[in-house]
Amino acid sequence: MVKTQLMKEVAKGLPVVAIDGPAGAGKSAVSKRLTLALGYQLLDTGALYRSIAYLAQKGGIDWQDEQGLAEIAAKLEVDFRLDGEINHLHVGGEDLTELIRSPEISVGASIVSRHPMVRTALLQLQRDLASSGGVVAEGRDVGTVVFPNADAKFFLTASDEVRAQRRYDELISKGVETDFESTLKEMLERDERDTGRELAPLIQAEDAILVDSSNTGVDEVVAQMLAHVRQVEAAL
Ligand code: DC
Repeated sequence: MVKTQLMKEVAKGLPVVAIDGPAGAGKSAVSKRLTLALGYQLLDTGALYRSIAYLAQKGGIDWQDEQGLAEIAAKLEVDFRLDGEINHLHVGGEDLTELIRSPEISVGASIVSRHPMVRTALLQLQRDLASSGGVVAEGRDVGTVVFPNADAKFFLTASDEVRAQRRYDELISKGVETDFESTLKEMLERDERDTGRELAPLIQAEDAILVDSSNTGVDEVVAQMLAHVRQVEAAL
């Protein structure tokens, strides 16, 4: 059985592009546009941790139950399809695209991602998904742990206030009731968990290009990254 699937096969020999960074840095918007501009596949690794948090909650499995979570991770069958601005995600045939985006599941994803057995199970899945190359992978540890030999690596960040404002605007636009202060607090707590954990913490890979999007729009960030990846492609 085909366990995992990205939208289409991409020729071998194309780069793997790793984009890491904290929540709200603009990774999602930038990764989608860069993926479309390159004609690659998008691997949203955060969506995998979110799916585990969601499926655990649905199945009555505690976010601290490492064994139970690892069993979900081992059976995960994912199918990503990038369509314009939306990266559709089906897991085991169920459309989780929107269901995994709630603030509650953001917290859950950050908690389940601390468990070594969960990370180990997802490591192989992520590598399988990118085995054909021609993939933009975004997350927290894609350039450091998952694809240490990625052909191009970026670390995308922005100031705390800018990141919280973006997350707040996004939630409000989706009709989620929240306020700026609690969005900022939740984001900083999540940063703390993501950067403070022992295993695969969020850090900039030594060979990653640092991109600060605080005062730079998505188009400009994508243009910078695209220019670099095109150079990398040409050199392969
Ligand atoms: O990028 P995101 O907000 O969808 O990620 C949700 C959580 O998943 C994040 O708080 C930490 C975890 N995560 C991770 O540990 N490693 C990754 N490569 C991606 C996400």
